[in-house]
Amino acid sequence: MTTRTEKQYRWFHRASLYQIWIRSFADGNGDGIGDLYGVYEKLPYIRDLGVDAIWFSPIYPSPNADYGYDISDYKNIHPDYGDLAQFQKVLNRAHELGLRIIMDLVINHTSDEHPWFLESRKGEDNPYRDYYIWRRRPNNWNSIFGGSAWAYEGTRGQYYLHLFAKKQPDLNMDNPAVREEIKSILRFWLDRGVDGFRMDVINFISKREGLPDGIPWLPAINGMMHFKDGPHLQEYLSEFRSVCREYDRDIVQIGEGPFTEAEVARRYITGRKPVMDMMISFDHMLADCFYTEYLHRPFSLVSMKKAFTHWQNTMADKGWNTLYLENHDHPRIISRYGSESWWKESGKALAVSYIFQRGTPFIYQGQEIGMTNIRLRSIRDYLDEATIQNFERFFTKDPMDKRMNRIYHSSRDSSRTPMQWSEERYAGFSTVLPWFSLNPNYHAINVEEEERDPESILKFYRYCLALRKKSRTILYGDYREYEPGNRQVYLYERSLKDNHCLIVCSLSKEPARVRLPEAYRNRKVRRMLNNYEPMSLFDHLDPERYPTEKLPEKLLLHPYEARIYQIRY
Ligand code: NOJ
Repeated sequence: MTTRTEKQYRWFHRASLYQIWIRSFADGNGDGIGDLYGVYEKLPYIRDLGVDAIWFSPIYPSPNADYGYDISDYKNIHPDYGDLAQFQKVLNRAHELGLRIIMDLVINHTSDEHPWFLESRKGEDNPYRDYYIWRRRPNNWNSIFGGSAWAYEGTRGQYYLHLFAKKQPDLNMDNPAVREEIKSILRFWLDRGVDGFRMDVINFISKREGLPDGIPWLPAINGMMHFKDGPHLQEYLSEFRSVCREYDRDIVQIGEGPFTEAEVARRYITGRKPVMDMMISFDHMLADCFYTEYLHRPFSLVSMKKAFTHWQNTMADKGWNTLYLENHDHPRIISRYGSESWWKESGKALAVSYIFQRGTPFIYQGQEIGMTNIRLRSIRDYLDEATIQNFERFFTKDPMDKRMNRIYHSSRDSSRTPMQWSEERYAGFSTVLPWFSLNPNYHAINVEEEERDPESILKFYRYCLALRKKSRTILYGDYREYEPGNRQVYLYERSLKDNHCLIVCSLSKEPARVRLPEAYRNRKVRRMLNNYEPMSLFDHLDPERYPTEKLPEKLLLHPYEARIYQIRY
């Protein structure tokens, strides 16, 4: 049961967020690369979607070994994307439009081209010697991107730890000087007016003392028990939170915590001294694969529902959830948990499956128009390090078409193709050849087209976000799942006092049947939404004008049909 009073909710509880992966968002200066000039032009589009904040994946200088998640200067803007003056212009304009700005804070590691690392590798008498994790003899940990997590550095004659790519050395957070650097980075951006941080792999920043060996036979994650949710994590996060508290505005901190259990995430958010405002959950991303493709298996709706409900229940009282289906680390959701043959229906049903849960919805660029996975001809056309490593490491004996098929299903590059703005040349993303392959379906799937179509996925997202914000029941109400074993339909209810919303969502290519909860059978209800009916029936957002109907005991649903009913009892 929700224990907060309405007054205790903060801005981000009511908000929804739009994630920008800038390189592929919009090119404003005609060099084929997305940038802050493009973002500036598109701010009204983002505002009109009905979101309240933008989360920028890293926009700092970076050699791009991991596309921005390898930072070489925390206090600047990558020259490909603009400069600090242009950033300020975007931030000020966003604020004028009522959009807050959230920065990505990547502090588990830097780039190996960061000046701290360039100094640190020089030797043990260098002032930066303890900024990173150096050993004469490595332990047996594997890197999450494949191979050993240690690389030899000839100048210093030692190995350094890199939990991700070789070009991403892990910082030594146990060193107080490193933590002071982080605080100074936080202040740098807070002084410029940003509204919060999404903190990258934040649950990995404190490693167990002595760095003991991990389980030898586990593949990519064998040392995880020694660096996930480590011994000093709470303490370090608390130091960083104090910096955010120095400011007189309400700063949000969103933690990315790969594999952190809901119960642990809850402690970060609701403990005696909370250190985070919400944590990004990963469990529902395991309903088929995580981006390491060796886990790939067919999508199971039952396991996705189980993960959703577990997080909803665990966060039910003082906790809060992030709600998302897509980001730059995962393939596109229609190709993944929906169906390209039921493109529009499944795109809409997936939106309904998560936006109406209790939490803050995130929408990743292009998701709102139903962008789908790309199928590049050869592995050489892919750029993402994790994709290439997966290709080289797993199922290497399979025939090539099978191996490529796995890449189509799992690659992070599918969500990194340029945003499809129009059917013009280069999809309206740029006036010149873009830095990365465009999905050839941009002729059919693009913003301009969806602005014209009254029944588009884009219009549907706008409606869903507006409806969520208008309904206190959906914003704050309790969550309850029904029929958890139904393999085709996700059925959940949101309730506040005597007001109830029932969300019925088929994620099946076949017609589906679902039993309704007792309280709804043979009762007159209002229909707030149905993705098989014209949007004009609903988008006035006036509860008195919603169509009414009397519900039977069981509903028969079309493929990927989604409905929302409202009732008082
Ligand atoms: C999580 C980020 O979302 C991902 O893109 C990146 O590769 C890793 N952290 C390492 O920074």
